[in-house]
Amino acid sequence: MTDTTTQATPPSGNERDVLVDVRGVKVHFPIKRGVIFDKVVGHVYAVDGVDLQIRRGETYGLVGESGCGKSTLGKAILNLEPPTEGSVILDGTDIASLRGEELRRRRKDIQMVFQDPMSSLDPRQSVESLLVEGMRAHGLDTDGASTKKRLRELLAAVGLPAAALTKYPHEFSGGQRQRIGIARALSVEPKLIVADEPVSALDVSVQAQVINLLEELQDEFDLTYLVVAHDLAVVRHISDRIGVMYLGGLVEEASADDLYAQPLHPYTRALLSAVPVPDPSVEDTREQILLTGDLPSPSNPPPGCRFHTRCPWRQETKCADERPMLRVVQVDGVDPSHRVACHWVEQIASGEIRPHDVSPVYVTPGGGDAGALDDDTFTGPASVTEVI
Ligand SMILES: Nc1ncnc2c1ncn2[C@@H]1O[C@H](COP(=O)(O)OP(=O)(O)OP(=O)(O)O)[C@@H](O)[C@H]1O
Ligand code: SF4
Ligand SMILES: [Mg+2]
Repeated sequence: MTDTTTQATPPSGNERDVLVDVRGVKVHFPIKRGVIFDKVVGHVYAVDGVDLQIRRGETYGLVGESGCGKSTLGKAILNLEPPTEGSVILDGTDIASLRGEELRRRRKDIQMVFQDPMSSLDPRQSVESLLVEGMRAHGLDTDGASTKKRLRELLAAVGLPAAALTKYPHEFSGGQRQRIGIARALSVEPKLIVADEPVSALDVSVQAQVINLLEELQDEFDLTYLVVAHDLAVVRHISDRIGVMYLGGLVEEASADDLYAQPLHPYTRALLSAVPVPDPSVEDTREQILLTGDLPSPSNPPPGCRFHTRCPWRQETKCADERPMLRVVQVDGVDPSHRVACHWVEQIASGEIRPHDVSPVYVTPGGGDAGALDDDTFTGPASVTEVI
């Protein structure tokens, strides 16, 4: 059995345009048991060999089912979750290798915007205190007058009045709190903002306003974004490029337009086939892929292609024992920047390999497949819409 780590094919385009270069990043959490002595009895392979490059000024969207490792990868880029293996090069410095004071200083360049602004903002601090905190920590609070001016500018940039400075987080609505969270991230003049589900806790009516705000700020402050989301509509709207994650690895990466126009990996095809299309004539005729089987546990990922236990195109050879690399595909009309981790993507795209009814495969705790189960005994979700 070969289980090669997903390796990068370098992206097309000028390497100097790359702001963040993530290479071979793994984050494995030990599972410990024991009353007196903690014994490591296994690992959660939350991120298991990810390569991606984010270019200056672009928005990179990361999508995938709950638990596939999106947030852990975001935190690994900030070194909030130190990678078990791999490097995260930001402007020439390996963030993953930094510790202590050096790491604290470099963190200024990467800020995070969280899903739930209520729990990420200290309720006992006024907005002024929340915003000044980061500036002070990074030596940007030089004198009272210029700090006050900067605070007013920040609030204006996120669409809040200067009077907000003396108020506390509970005095604002959810959307306004997220604006404060964004202002706080901006206060230290970052290069990259990692926004982890930035609008999923907000009312639908407010989501678009916050997304539009992020887009406006990108130009104004020369920002690069990594946006983590499970809402494919949000990701499509905001992203230049999109990476699709499954069980700790990237399975497809392409420009947003290419990914939606021609999804190539079986998992991406299933994900997109679960998104409703407003036009009823298209909705009735388009491809619908229902996945059988549950999302395997990241503490016991299937060998070979991680998706083989649910893939309707699974083949007898390679799929169950060789992990596919993320690679450029040889399909007419497909851009070289469109990369896919599937052994059979060319044959699937040409129609040579057709989807078939696949019984879910049960993965035994020690690894290896225990074979197909009766449908009756398997109670996984029928489609990705159920799990997203
Ligand atoms: N500190 C931790 N210790 C152990 N396991 C963890 C830890 N943090 C995350 N995990 C596990 O790692 C896996 C990936 O988690 P992660 O939060 O990155 O997923 P996600 O894709 O962001 O999911 P969601 O869409 O639900 O936010 C999950 O199985 C999770 O339980
Ligand atoms: S065809 Fe094989 S390699 Fe491709 S996604 Fe399906 S299981 Fe994975
Ligand atoms: Mg998450």
